[in-house]
Amino acid sequence: MQHIKALVAAEFTQVNELIVRQLHSNVPLAENIGYYLIEAGGKRLRPLLALLAAGSVGTIQPSHIALAGVIEFIHTSTLLHDDVVDVSTLRRGRPTANAKWGNASSVLVGDFLYSRAFQMLVELDSMPLMRLMADTTNTIAEGEVLQLTKAGNPDTSEAAYLEVIERKTAVLFAAAARGAAMLSNADDTAGDSLYRYGLHLGIAFQMADDALDYRGDADTMGKNVGDDLGEGKPTLPLIHILKTGSAEEKALVTQAITERDSSRLPDILRAIERTGALDYTLDRAREQSQLAAAAIAELGDSRHVEAMLSLAELAVNRDS
Ligand code: IPE
Ligand code: IPE
Ligand code: MG
Ligand code: MG
Repeated sequence: MQHIKALVAAEFTQVNELIVRQLHSNVPLAENIGYYLIEAGGKRLRPLLALLAAGSVGTIQPSHIALAGVIEFIHTSTLLHDDVVDVSTLRRGRPTANAKWGNASSVLVGDFLYSRAFQMLVELDSMPLMRLMADTTNTIAEGEVLQLTKAGNPDTSEAAYLEVIERKTAVLFAAAARGAAMLSNADDTAGDSLYRYGLHLGIAFQMADDALDYRGDADTMGKNVGDDLGEGKPTLPLIHILKTGSAEEKALVTQAITERDSSRLPDILRAIERTGALDYTLDRAREQSQLAAAAIAELGDSRHVEAMLSLAELAVNRDS
């Protein structure tokens, strides 16, 4: 990750400075909660992608720095809302905002960051970009709602799972990449390639994340392991057991999802191990990562494209 970031180090620093500047509010709580989460770090993958995509089709302009900030603000606001919905207590190695300040503050500061992102976007004065970001945030919201309707449902298919993760996660990566191309006035072919790259990258990233929820380490990830099970989320590892497991394993997973019960996590981990559910999940993620790489093949072989190819591999091979 460090050598990818090194390619756009100066611009990356500008994005971080912009983010901190734009957190400003005359209402201290809004600023404090925003700062608490932003200061804790996070990988800043989406702004990184916006910068790399910009570099792949031209030079990185101040407008790209602003776009990268907008994207990270939208991401951060979805995290504030998501942690309320998922009743999560750990994020970026710290107690979540909802654990520290409560649900009401988290939801409202999430709204503050969402709307700040759109204030920044208006300054870029591009109606096509505004349309892209309005559609994207609407789709993310739909994705989270769709996921809510699938929670507790063990009959969720792999196709339905894919639809959820494309919406809740992948479209923001796709918008980061296409938005950068728009600001560079790149042609539609390049914009489409970057969009598809982002979409497949985002799907791969979320699949890897869903594997980590069963395999990862809380200290490394900065968030808790096993959260998805307690929420009754039918993610890909569980879908695989429901398809290929023994009758007993299927019954075990069905009960856990239906009753949103994580008490039998050790038994589920054994079923995951025996059915190769994480290998399956990561294989699917690798397929998506290869589709991402294929999507930008025609952009040539600049250093920025090279970095995007590395990023596609990293999205899957990661432990945080
Ligand atoms: C978390 O995204 C939400 C998912 C899409 C899984 P990240 O893993 O990019 O979160 P941060 O920004 O690095 O904390
Ligand atoms: C990530 O949701 C997608 C959004 C935040 C919109 P998850 O619930 O899968 O991600 P984590 O595990 O909380 O980061
Ligand atoms: Mg969620
Ligand atoms: Mg969550």
